Amino acid sequence: MIDQLKQELAEKDAAEIIHFISSNYADRTVFSTSFGIEDQVLTHLLAQANSNINIFTLDTGRLFPETYYVWNRTLERYGLAIQSYSPNTAEVERLVTDKGPSSFYESVENRKECCFIRKIEPLSRAIKGYDIWITGIRADQSPNREEMEYIEWDAHNNILKIHPLFHWNLTDVEEFLKVNNIPYNPLHDKGFPSIGCQPCTRAVQPGESFRAGRWWWEDQSKKECGLHTTNAH
Ligand code: ADX
Ligand code: SF4
Repeated sequence: MIDQLKQELAEKDAAEIIHFISSNYADRTVFSTSFGIEDQVLTHLLAQANSNINIFTLDTGRLFPETYYVWNRTLERYGLAIQSYSPNTAEVERLVTDKGPSSFYESVENRKECCFIRKIEPLSRAIKGYDIWITGIRADQSPNREEMEYIEWDAHNNILKIHPLFHWNLTDVEEFLKVNNIPYNPLHDKGFPSIGCQPCTRAVQPGESFRAGRWWWEDQSKKECGLHTTNAH
């Protein structure tokens, strides 16, 4: 399937990719949104294409209030159904009871444990049964991501991943948001290019890399939460 799709999608821009997948594989495809700027572009393209592709978000329970704000604004603007996945209650209760509410700062193991409970396990439920997973990943977000491909087989999750904005740069995304008046996270204008959970994301200074504000206390090389580790790592 990957070779066939690679051929079919070659030469197509992001809007055409969304249109093609919606027309041919809508019931087998799912799109994950964190309500980041890239995901907002993709939601807009899905709405424009009258797409039936299912959309989900992983509500980790530790998101910024601004993320819930843009989530609401997205529902108002597009009227699309966005399936929310929460972590397993018993697992969160065990983690926070055993280790307190901020264990992720103490070690990489603890941080990965929290990411597993709040993101990875819910992700596995969200993509179960689908063949194609669309994300807002761009190559220039990190050196790790530059090594990815716009369409790739995720052997860990057994699913084909497509990143329609893979070749867009930050300016392309910002201009598209502006021209189309797309709602976006207000934190974006306050120095947050990449936004994850509130305790694990800070603003970046001018000149710092795109993902410098994510898990900023950790070694730079380890800064992925495990959602996207196909070829990277
Ligand atoms: S992460 O791995 O560091 O958390 P990042 O924030 O760069 O990922 O987002 C990359 C893509 O992963 C997004 O475009 C989106 O498709 C998916 N994603 C990240 N966080 C979430 C989330 N909380 N819910 C749904 N999808 C998400
Ligand atoms: Fe937990 Fe931080 Fe990972 Fe969110 S980003 S799941 S709060 S460790």
